[in-house]
Amino acid sequence: MEEELVKIKDEYRKQLQHLVSETEIYQFKSRYIGRNGSITHLIKELKNVSPEKRASLGKKVNTLKKDIESSVDEALKRSRELKKKQKILEQELDVTLPGRKSPLGSKHPVTVITDKIVGIFSSLGFEIIEGPEVELDFFNFEALNIPKDHPARDMHDTFYISDEVLLRTHTSPVQIRTMQKTSPPLRIICPGKVYRCDSDVSHTPMFHQLEGLMIDEDISMADLKGVLTILIQQIFDNDTLIRFRPSFFPFTEPSAEVDIQCVMCRGNGCRVCSSTGWLEILGCGMVHPEVFKNVGYDPDKISGFAFGLGIERIAMLKFSINDIRLFFENDLRFLSQF
Ligand code: PHE
Repeated sequence: MEEELVKIKDEYRKQLQHLVSETEIYQFKSRYIGRNGSITHLIKELKNVSPEKRASLGKKVNTLKKDIESSVDEALKRSRELKKKQKILEQELDVTLPGRKSPLGSKHPVTVITDKIVGIFSSLGFEIIEGPEVELDFFNFEALNIPKDHPARDMHDTFYISDEVLLRTHTSPVQIRTMQKTSPPLRIICPGKVYRCDSDVSHTPMFHQLEGLMIDEDISMADLKGVLTILIQQIFDNDTLIRFRPSFFPFTEPSAEVDIQCVMCRGNGCRVCSSTGWLEILGCGMVHPEVFKNVGYDPDKISGFAFGLGIERIAMLKFSINDIRLFFENDLRFLSQF
């Protein structure tokens, strides 16, 4: 028994040193001091030892048992700490790792063109004015020399909210609102949404227009032509040809539509320009004297020009987009190209 004790004492520390996991340590513990453990065995056998040796032997066995117990406790503590450290190490932050970038949005093509035009007119001293999208019949039609029975109303495919309230069909009502509030001279542009009950590859129920208005003494068609030439050449390029074609709007006289040389075929004729070599891009004219009278301006003292263009139309020509509905589908494959 004595020998057995010495043997256990010698080997248990060495064994314990190599144990890492809690399970191994518990297995070790039961091997020595568990119900069938070797120490437990020795304790049971004490009764067979002669009484004179029993006391000192018993003391030794007990001391060994206590030693093993406290060694096991220590080993467990070590093992748990090690596990904790490993866990922290696994979760460690690498602060030098470059961050994950969140994808950046890009400007919508309608915004790109609007910003471009706003920039051009700001540099020419025009002020940017906005007006309501829900509009009174008076501002959208009546004051613009389009009375209730006027055939020009048919062109507008108006969404009516009530007899007198509608969704504006163009940005021209902002002209009236501004002239009512301000006396000439005036140089403004008015970008914004407009609504017409119409839908196909080149029409959507909502689209964007930009209105321009310049009023002073002695403003003429030449000023109109000069300003629009600057606009068109800055949007497209410096040698884009421009053509003024007589037209009709109730609120301008004379009126014209402006064509540019086809940006696809350079005037040779293609599908986009229906083989004409020209593309219509805006409507314009000299403000009608009736419109001046409606806002209390004296048509004998002042004159002015106005124009209105469709932003989507310009964007389609500029970026070669063949379906206006693409602007409003929010497909990222389309939008991320701008
Ligand atoms: N408001 C007209 C339209 O929407 C365009 C226009 C504006 C024409 C100003 C002449 C002058 O069709």
